Amino acid sequence: MTAPSLPPLAARVLAWQAQHGRQGLPWQSTREPYRVWLSEVMLQQTQVATVLDYYPRFLARFPDVAALAAAPLDDVLALWSGLGYYSRARNLHRCAQAVMAQHGGRFPASSAVLATLPGIGRSTASAIAAFCFGERAAILDGNVKRVLSRALGFDGDLAQLAQVRQLWQLAEALLPDSAGMPAYTQGLMDLGATVCLARRPVCMACPLAEDCVALAQGRPLYYPVKTKKLKRGTRSHALLWLEQGEQLWLVQRPAQGVWAGLWSLPEFTSAEDLQAVVAGWPGQGEWLPPFRHVLTHFDWQLQVLRWRQPPGVAEALAGGQWFRFDEALALGLPAPVRKLIAQDT
Ligand code: ADE
Repeated sequence: MTAPSLPPLAARVLAWQAQHGRQGLPWQSTREPYRVWLSEVMLQQTQVATVLDYYPRFLARFPDVAALAAAPLDDVLALWSGLGYYSRARNLHRCAQAVMAQHGGRFPASSAVLATLPGIGRSTASAIAAFCFGERAAILDGNVKRVLSRALGFDGDLAQLAQVRQLWQLAEALLPDSAGMPAYTQGLMDLGATVCLARRPVCMACPLAEDCVALAQGRPLYYPVKTKKLKRGTRSHALLWLEQGEQLWLVQRPAQGVWAGLWSLPEFTSAEDLQAVVAGWPGQGEWLPPFRHVLTHFDWQLQVLRWRQPPGVAEALAGGQWFRFDEALALGLPAPVRKLIAQDT
């Protein structure tokens, strides 16, 4: 590993960002922490193109942190529906309430205090503080870990906390002055998202290529080094699509786990279990073609039984309620469930 070339790296990122970085995105035209925070949380696991669609709608409904804090969680989840990773929406709501209760409705103006709020990790706190206040705080999300570990030839194993700490220190040593922080921070993110790609880095277009250790070694894909691998498993469940005329039976999912807090079709451990529950019910059912839903830690095989009850049958399941189809579609629903029932309406 070579010593980081301090000002040159920041200068190159800044020059590149001015010419080739992302410009004119809605959250770049503001220094209002509420708006910047919202964009950063949305962008954590979601592509810019998708966020461009959700961001203005969310702001139209919740124009400031007070409006968001005062809203029912269900309304927040409904507007988040389709963005995935719903713990982000739940934390967003909790964070808004903490800003109201603990900070008088104003976001704290330092990364250290921002990082104490729900859903704001160290990198997100730094990004908000850099964008809004020009704070000299380093970001280190997955993309930036890749950019910096390649540029510096940092080959510590990022599965180890001590190595991650070391990379944080290097990231801090590379920062420009306060005036350059917003563009530098955006530039690192943009380099990671558009040039220093995980599997196909476009080194010809990279402003850091001249000094990039990984490129000089001829092995950009070797970095970042991280030994732990996610073991992906498969789970399988059955869902009940229970209908009575224009109505659909939905249950709110528990606060923990997959699709936390969303309204969904009742879930059963297996098709056999579900078949046993509906045996003897009035009405008739059909099994839909099974489908697979890919989540971070496992693939989910889902089998859906659509059961139509005649009108007037008392509900036969605990812990849910009937919704008209149009009401159901206005709730926070998991994207595949929404897709399923929307096909039919
Ligand atoms: N990912 C996280 N924050 C981002 C931002 N501000 N711009 C583009 N991509 C991002």
